[in-house]
Parts: sequence; structure tokens; C-alpha cells
Amino acid sequence: MSLFDQIQEATSFLQEKTNSFSASTGIILGTGLSGLADQLTDAQAIPYGEIPHFPKSTVESHRGQLLFGKLAGKPVFALAGRFHYYEGYSMQQVTFPIRVLRALGATQMIISNAAGSVNADMEAGDLVFVSDHINLQPENPLRGPNDERLGPRFPDMMHAYNPEWIRFALSFAQGAGIRAHRGIYAGLQGPNLETPAEYQFLHTIGADLVGMSTVPEVIVARHAGMNVFVCSIVSNKCYPLSELTETTVEEVIAVAQEATPKLEKIVAALVAEFA
Ligand code: HPA
Repeated sequence: MSLFDQIQEATSFLQEKTNSFSASTGIILGTGLSGLADQLTDAQAIPYGEIPHFPKSTVESHRGQLLFGKLAGKPVFALAGRFHYYEGYSMQQVTFPIRVLRALGATQMIISNAAGSVNADMEAGDLVFVSDHINLQPENPLRGPNDERLGPRFPDMMHAYNPEWIRFALSFAQGAGIRAHRGIYAGLQGPNLETPAEYQFLHTIGADLVGMSTVPEVIVARHAGMNVFVCSIVSNKCYPLSELTETTVEEVIAVAQEATPKLEKIVAALVAEFA
């Protein structure tokens, strides 16, 4: 079955289940950030396992549910749990939920993640609004025959991250006393963290952040013509190398969870303003 037909099947199933719920905005809740799901009102949750062609979530820190609800009074979709390439999924599987949200009517994505910082000014717990990325992952979700119904063969990436949303988020954060920056995200395959030499390399090539997700999602969202906003929470500081310490997934999750209320405020403000 073609990707297009799989998207159609998943979409029809969800439309039927949710009485044709629609929303302009989809939100991806990253590692340790699923607490945002509790902010949704009137929410209906559908486990990924029930949705045709959806991959199943394997990482424990994620929930594995598609939520339909309201945030700041506006309808939104929320993906509680994302798929990572390192789990063994294909890039098409990793990005399938975004295709489905687009087909359900979403035209904009708010994506969150936990990331390491390779910029000395970015401390653990800070928010970083991603303004650009460097794709260092070994596969691309658009590889293979292109279905023009889903997007163009060669999508432009110059305006991948909406600058107006970043300006809005920075000024909102400043007003709310939240430490926030603008930064460049390097996407790597993982699942191992980086060596000191790799963190140094990432700093040298101009990255501010490093993580194992997001880039394929952004590529597919842009291919599908969606507006994209990405917020990273710095979970561990990796630069300068003198400040590098061993990092565990428990620490990454704990720091992300602690910062979740800040992220919630930003996302709610963006939804109130733009959804
Ligand atoms: N490297 C890669 N991915 C990450 C990191 C990191 O240091 N922290 C959180 N996700």
C-alpha cells in the first residue's frame, strides 16, 4: 500500500473516532515533556496501537497516544510520544504521524525536544527556540519516489523555522522571566551520546544544540507545506568541554520535566496567538 493510502486509512479511522475533530495546530511532546498533555482540556486520547499504520512507541519516557483537545481555548492535536530513528523505525515511520496530522487539517507544528547544548551560554533548563538545523542523520524521510500529492520533490529549507513565531516566543519569554535563546539544532542518529571530540566538532560547525529527533519531522512538515516552530529544552550542557559530565537518560528526563512548566507557557501563548 502506498504511503498516501496509509495516511488516508489512518486519517479516516481518526476522523470517525473523533467525530471529525479538526485543528490548525499539532504539538509533539518530546522526552520528559509529556506533562504538557495534562494541560489539554476536553481531551480524547487514542493509543497509537489502535491507529492503522502507526508505529508503536517503544521508549518508556513517552506515552504513545494521539490527543485531541483544547489548549488556550483552541483545538489542537498533540502527539504524546514520538518515534526515533534509533529505535529501528524507518524515517517514513518516524514522520508518519505528521503526515496524518496534516491530512486531518493541521497546517502548523509545534515541536519540542530535550537536547544537549554545545553553546557555552546555554545552561541546563534553558529554552532554545530553533532557528535552523544541521542534518547529520544518515537517512532522509523524503528519499525514494516523491508523491506530489504530499509535497514537492525538492522542498526549499530556507524558511524552515518561522521567524515571526521565534520573535513572538522570545519576547513572551522575556516578559515571563524565562531564560530563552535562539539556536541551531544538529540532529544526529544516536542512541549513544556524543564523545567530547564530537561535541567540540558540533560547536565548531555552528550548532548550539544536539539531539536525536526533530530534524526528520521538520523536513516532512516543510515538505507538507506546514509552518514549523521548535522549542528545545537544554537537558545537559556539553560545552565548554570542561563542563561536560556523564549524562544518563534519567537526568535528561528529570531536567526536561522540571522545565516543562516553562515550555507549557510558551506553547499556550503561541497557540493563543497563532492557532
Ligand atoms: N546528545 C544527543 N542527544 C541528546 C543529548 C545529547 O547530549 N541530550 C539530550 N538529547
